[in-house]
Amino acid sequence: MNPVTSLSVVVLAAGAGKRMRSPLPKVLQPLAGRTLLDHVLHCAEALRPAATHVVYGHGGEAVRRHFAERAELRWVEQAQRLGTGHAVAQAMPGIPEDHLVLVLCGDVPLLRAATLEALLQGTGEGVGVLSVELPDPTGYGRIVRDSSGAVAAIVEERDADAATRAVREVNTGVIAAPAGRLRGWLSRLGNDNAQGEYYLTDIIAMAVAEGVSVAGVRAADADEVAGINTRAQLAAAESALRRRIAAALLDQGAILADPARLDVRGEVTVGQDVFLDANVTLEGRVELGDGVHIGPNVVLRDVCLGAGTVVHAFSLLEGMRCGTDCQLGPYARVRPGSELAERVKIGNFVEVKNSRLAEGAKANHLSYVGDTDVGRDANIGAGTITCNYDGANKHRTVIGDGAFIGSGVELVAPVEIGPGATIGAGSTISKNAPPHQLTLARARQTTLRHWQRPTKQRSGEDH
Ligand code: UD1
Ligand code: CA
Repeated sequence: MNPVTSLSVVVLAAGAGKRMRSPLPKVLQPLAGRTLLDHVLHCAEALRPAATHVVYGHGGEAVRRHFAERAELRWVEQAQRLGTGHAVAQAMPGIPEDHLVLVLCGDVPLLRAATLEALLQGTGEGVGVLSVELPDPTGYGRIVRDSSGAVAAIVEERDADAATRAVREVNTGVIAAPAGRLRGWLSRLGNDNAQGEYYLTDIIAMAVAEGVSVAGVRAADADEVAGINTRAQLAAAESALRRRIAAALLDQGAILADPARLDVRGEVTVGQDVFLDANVTLEGRVELGDGVHIGPNVVLRDVCLGAGTVVHAFSLLEGMRCGTDCQLGPYARVRPGSELAERVKIGNFVEVKNSRLAEGAKANHLSYVGDTDVGRDANIGAGTITCNYDGANKHRTVIGDGAFIGSGVELVAPVEIGPGATIGAGSTISKNAPPHQLTLARARQTTLRHWQRPTKQRSGEDH
């Protein structure tokens, strides 16, 4: 046999996942913001395989479509689900003789690359099985070891006698074997067993019979190798992953009010002394600079916050970035395309969309700032609305440096407010306002001297 030179990963993903009771194929179920299969592929990538083959079956077109952009994946259809051995055999025609084949399951999403590295280390030129000791091994294939402790076989539960069923070391489903030999073993698999399937696990006894060494590498953490078959298991995996992510953030120096009440559905990087209060949800790519303080019940999705920024309770920020020392919220909503410079303040019930606010700009209360460029230290008064949409198109508003927009102003875009301009409260501004002057656009206040409030007529009839 040729020595092993490269790695080919085969991910088994042909299962229908009936127990999920979902129209979505099982491997497309979401876990912490990514599909189960995404997690498995991400872990496999860390090993830098020469190729990754995904065996798909029932409902598989949706799976292929979901990963359409990943040109490096090799798709292998298993038209009939005849067992795990049959599934791997479908991928073998595309795998060179001198590769090591690593079989992963699309529904075991919490596996760590370091665990797989340990397995490959143990496998060497032979065969490797990732096992785990479970308090309750029900349903799993048991690892049978000989008197010297070497792996002799894997026996599926339904084919096991009472003594074998008592074994608590089980097969996680992750198996590595040299392609050349594996091809031969797979071609000789039978399906004369309790499930009438071609079991991948039967190659273990074949390897032992041929004198090929079989390493049984135990995974330390049972959570990591848990398969997902039900909604309950999916929820358990979500909380296991939540604990893992929280632990990693604590390691990086973050302060968490309650690690169990932080949801991360994406990738987060934190600086030093970042504080996250209870019930914070982080999605997509989130970058938090040194000393950032996030209040309770805040949702951040694809945001980058500069050092020292404070986000107060109940704010929702997405697709935005800000410089250092900004103050956002409580109840701020910042929508995609927004860029805030340093020391910007966005207060309660203020919505900002696709706008740039320069250093020191403020919108403290009850405003809508959309498609707007706001200059340095400009102040947007309470209840100001940029009327950016004419029913057909969006238009920009430009507010110059140091401008002061009074309360309750409507800025009808496209419109420009000059630097240092002051806009009187309650104005509807539809023409450009010159710099450094007061512009007002509101009806003059009048008082009718002889006006009398009507009194109720006594006609006897009710109106
Ligand atoms: C399998 C192992 C068992 C192990 C358990 C760990 C075999 C025979 N048994 O059992 O030793 O303890 O996993 O979870 O391998 N699949 C296909 N095509 C098929 C059959 C399965 O792609 O024809 C995929 C499934 O989608 C799944 C994986 O292979 O991702 C495992 O299949 P499953 O039927 O769940 O195997 P188990 O009976 O649980
Ligand atoms: Ca099965």
